[in-house]
Amino acid sequence: MSKTINVLFLAAEADPFIKVGGLGDVSGVLPRELRACSNDDLKLDVRLVIPYHPAVKAENLRPMEVFFIRRGDTEIAVEAFETVIHGMPVYLVNGDPIRANGSVYSMDAKQDTEKYTFFSVAAMELPNHINWQPDVIHANDWHTSLSLYINLTKRWESGLKHVANVLSLHNMPFMGADASASLDAYGIKLAQTDLPEWARVLPLPLGLWASDAVVAVSPGYAGEVLTEEFGCGLHEFMSQRSETLSGILNGIDTTSFDPAVDKALSVNYNLDTLERRSENKELLQEKLGLQRDPNIPLIGVISRMDVQKGIDLSFTALKSMKRVNFQAVILGTGDPKLEDAATELQILFPDKIKTILKFDANLARQIYAGADMLLMPSRYEPCGLAQMIAMRYGCIPIVRAVGGLKDTVIPGETGFVFEKTHHMSLVGAIKSALKTMPDREKWQALQKNGMAKDFSWKVSAQEYLKLYQSLVK
Ligand code: GLC
Repeated sequence: MSKTINVLFLAAEADPFIKVGGLGDVSGVLPRELRACSNDDLKLDVRLVIPYHPAVKAENLRPMEVFFIRRGDTEIAVEAFETVIHGMPVYLVNGDPIRANGSVYSMDAKQDTEKYTFFSVAAMELPNHINWQPDVIHANDWHTSLSLYINLTKRWESGLKHVANVLSLHNMPFMGADASASLDAYGIKLAQTDLPEWARVLPLPLGLWASDAVVAVSPGYAGEVLTEEFGCGLHEFMSQRSETLSGILNGIDTTSFDPAVDKALSVNYNLDTLERRSENKELLQEKLGLQRDPNIPLIGVISRMDVQKGIDLSFTALKSMKRVNFQAVILGTGDPKLEDAATELQILFPDKIKTILKFDANLARQIYAGADMLLMPSRYEPCGLAQMIAMRYGCIPIVRAVGGLKDTVIPGETGFVFEKTHHMSLVGAIKSALKTMPDREKWQALQKNGMAKDFSWKVSAQEYLKLYQSLVK
């Protein structure tokens, strides 16, 4: 008889239900890729659970029986729904603290703490109501970290079966806010931990502390969180338990992100028909109101407007290249100051730079398929997905040597890499790219090398599988 490993996969967001950032991409694909790893000897029954945020889009929801969890002197109703996507059961958890604020991540730390504490408590109760028990709890980032802490304290109290804890680390600096009051209200005591004192009440550190295995979303980032520069004050704590830390590179959804079939493109192409790609470039130039000319280098910036992404460096770099012949398109939303700076660039260079301040998935795909290069000068980048999508579409990434960017872009083979968090370092890399571009043969080699790389989830899912196996022996 084949063995089964049951995994409850918790996340704040998951595509296609709701997506704000890269976490949504990962949670949208990894759980089902993991299920697809099942074979004759081992069945992986991974089930996803996310909050039923007001903005969630879901079909064919089946309401489950309402259950209650105690909070202080009252009881809060948990209204859960079940649906199935790609053969995978998905649970959407609702309740007053989730309804109370509309967005996935709000500006109100207290409300977010309350919401995600409630979600974590409710999600850990859920298995008792579906006649299914997990062998592994797999949480992601601070929002669902408390589920691991709750699981560990349960493990101690009840002497129940060992349920393993896995935490994927997508973004270390976001640790959540003081959760002691919320935890206390749900009757969960703070344990004596060896965390630094300031971290003992924060969701992410508590999750790290409770984990049997911590997985950074790239090997590079796994190494970085052990350093003072990237460890956010927890590098010593992480170093002490470094044997539980590993790095598994994210994949991308290569079925959806495939220039050969992508419906957002006017002209589809693959490795063998790469010359067709330039039609997409010309159509993009036309759509943006830029001069239609395949020989003018077109630089893409597709990014959350956030200092993490070093997007300010991109702006300063482009601004300094007054006398250089290029075009650029900037797509994204975020920090209002950075949005203003992007608009200002378009005003300064109306014939050269176009700024589109929105989240537009189709336009993003057209940029991957039409721009010659993509800038990613991130200050830190746990993994980064855009550079992998760009390579799959023959758009050459120009990235800073950090985290997952360093792991995925090979200088001189698939892209351009620079070291310093300074716009001149970026300008240097852009200029190298501009110098290489007229050499068609060299440029096409870069494009083809990137397009030939396997960025699918297959390899990473196998690594997660091995990790689960090692934990539930
Ligand atoms: C976060 C990180 C990004 C990573 C994504 C998915 O958004 O900043 O680097 O690719 O999570 O893991």
